[in-house]
Amino acid sequence: MLKKTLQEGQETTDSALERLLPAATQHPTSIHQAMRHSVFAGGKRLRPILCIEAGRMVAGPQLAGTLPAGIEEVGAALEMLHTYSLIHDDLPALDNDDLRRGRPTCHKAFGEAIAILAGDALQTQAYEVLARLQCPAEVRVRIIEEIARGTGTIDGMIGGQVVDLEAEHTKPDVKMLEYIHRSKTAALITASVVSGGLYAGASEDAVAHLRKFGQSIGLAFQIVDDVLDVTQTSEQLGKTAGKDLTSEKATYPALFGIEESIRKADSLVQEAGEALHSFGGRAEILKSLAHFLVERKK
Ligand code: IPE
Ligand code: IPE
Ligand code: MG
Ligand code: MG
Ligand code: MG
Repeated sequence: MLKKTLQEGQETTDSALERLLPAATQHPTSIHQAMRHSVFAGGKRLRPILCIEAGRMVAGPQLAGTLPAGIEEVGAALEMLHTYSLIHDDLPALDNDDLRRGRPTCHKAFGEAIAILAGDALQTQAYEVLARLQCPAEVRVRIIEEIARGTGTIDGMIGGQVVDLEAEHTKPDVKMLEYIHRSKTAALITASVVSGGLYAGASEDAVAHLRKFGQSIGLAFQIVDDVLDVTQTSEQLGKTAGKDLTSEKATYPALFGIEESIRKADSLVQEAGEALHSFGGRAEILKSLAHFLVERKK
């Protein structure tokens, strides 16, 4: 069941991305090749899958388990934004990484200037896709606002990246660590779940529950990312392992140790499940995705 959800979600997302991204042969080709190099490198597509499954759950009774038409375009836009954040995260001025999704990072393959511009271009492309979503205009505007906030500077991805960088080589406290993780990672994951719900016509009440679910799994997701950085090899991860220690990053294992970090992630997944209580049995897929997020090995 979970395997099918993941596989179908990846395929649906990949074919939407294929359709929505400029062709590699499109002028100016260098940037389109760079965008595709990073997007089609075997990402897990978890944000689109969470978006799609939130939509399926909310639409459930009307659509009998089928997907709201066109929701994969919301997922594709989220994946473009996530990939842009990875390209910039890997730049020499940020985490300075050479390996991403099992390939040389964008700046290693195409040079820094094109990598910066490829990140920028994935961001603008994402909003072009969102502006054309096949849903009522007021829903479309709310989705755009939700995703822009999730990637922005106030409690969003960019704000989290700023504090992540500024916290290097310091001794952060729990509050700062939680701020970094909630902002740099949980905010976009939350926006993914909420925008899927909005696309399917979620009520305000349903949006609030989805938001709580997203915040909990989003924090758990980054705690596990920190743990995997310590416990896995670069080959297993497709990105440089052990990097957080060398860069003296603010991480959960650094502050709490591995076991306590895993316990925290598990208890967040528990809380996430409880947030979906009112959806009853329809929440099973999202709940099993939440478990997958903490049990993942890459
Ligand atoms: C990596 O995200 C960056 C974080 C926010 C932790 P993923 O683990 O989802 O990376 P991909 O998309 O599968 O490569
Ligand atoms: C990155 O966190 C979060 C982003 C917003 C991209 P990390 O720096 O820990 O992500 P990885 O480990 O390089 O994928
Ligand atoms: Mg980083
Ligand atoms: Mg990094
Ligand atoms: Mg990491």
